[in-house]
Amino acid sequence: MCIDNNGTSFGDVLSEFTGKRSELIPILQATQNAMGYLSLEAMKEIADFLSIPESQVYGAATFYAQFYFTRRGKHQVKVCLGTACHVRGATQVMDAVERELGICCGDTTPDYEYSLERVACVGACALAPVVVFDEEVHGQMESGKVKKIIKKEASPINV
Ligand code: FES
Repeated sequence: MCIDNNGTSFGDVLSEFTGKRSELIPILQATQNAMGYLSLEAMKEIADFLSIPESQVYGAATFYAQFYFTRRGKHQVKVCLGTACHVRGATQVMDAVERELGICCGDTTPDYEYSLERVACVGACALAPVVVFDEEVHGQMESGKVKKIIKKEASPINV
């Protein structure tokens, strides 16, 4: 049985569904919301629950970019590398975030506090370059602002 960091069991997630095959994507979404990612064990349980092959669950999960297959950090840091952000220095901002977190884009810190990824465009091009910290959009980013933003967003009063 899969258990997330908050003690929510995977059975709690499945109990919200009836077992119809059409529920596959909502179940994957609910599982990721509860556990932070889709483990192999969870996908096997979903396949059993829906009475479908594991390959079908895995195939659906890998089709959508919204699903993750490794444990993610408590905080999601996304650096936009879309065109508008790129021409305004997003690469330097990404370098600064990687240095500050001590990880490369696509990785999670060993303490599972932060995951870092690149995104194509978050629809805030007028604010380029943009970094999204969890759900908070930070515009006109500069390398020198990175440390301050991470410290501010990760403080307990923002959790
Ligand atoms: S390109 Fe970065 S917000 Fe649009």
